Amino acid sequence: MQFFVDTANLDHIREAAELGILDGVTTNPSLMAKEGISGEKNIMKHYRTICEIVGKDKDVSAEVISTDFKGMVAEGKKLAEIHENIVVKVPMIREGIKAISHFTEIGIRTNCTLIFSAGQAILAAKAGATYLSPFIGRIDDTNWDGMALIKEIFKIYTTQGYETAILAASIRSPLHIVQAAKAGADVVTCPLSAILGLFNHPLTDIGLEKFLADYKKANG
Ligand code: E4P
Repeated sequence: MQFFVDTANLDHIREAAELGILDGVTTNPSLMAKEGISGEKNIMKHYRTICEIVGKDKDVSAEVISTDFKGMVAEGKKLAEIHENIVVKVPMIREGIKAISHFTEIGIRTNCTLIFSAGQAILAAKAGATYLSPFIGRIDDTNWDGMALIKEIFKIYTTQGYETAILAASIRSPLHIVQAAKAGADVVTCPLSAILGLFNHPLTDIGLEKFLADYKKANG
């Protein structure tokens, strides 16, 4: 399973990249706004910086703002020109599926976002989306089981031989990451805090403390 960070924060992206386990980045308009990035020029520049931080062959999702086919295609082409790492993120709406089909035809990679059902996942795969982003945490927030959707999509994609990668999004905790891996997600995108949470185990800390104390005793 690949690890993406879900942020536009450059420090967080650098920290994740330094771990040596980062495969990519996802952003969305809310995450860009959170970092105070606005205006087309600044937004483009920020995406380029993210691509340069993560380096070669690491996908960076950049989301379109338009909601009509023509606008999405024009915007997506501009985004794809920023850097070879860019994957155009398109919302799961009718015009979005048309745009994804078009991007597939012309060789631009896509991430179909805002996925909340298996039916939507089938449409995105049929359109040739590179990635599909089911929003686990937001489903959990509504008292439904987000991870059950990953399992359902995994079953459908495996049965049908669809090639779209399942990118578990809206991940909120280390446990979500483990559950997504078990459910068959190809990629997980999460805040840096969820990745760092995977390190934690009290027995690791106790064990290391003892190893170091024993070494000190033996070696003075
Ligand atoms: C997906 O790519 C989205 O950016 C993201 O995972 C949404 O997460 P949230 O529900 O925590 O905002």
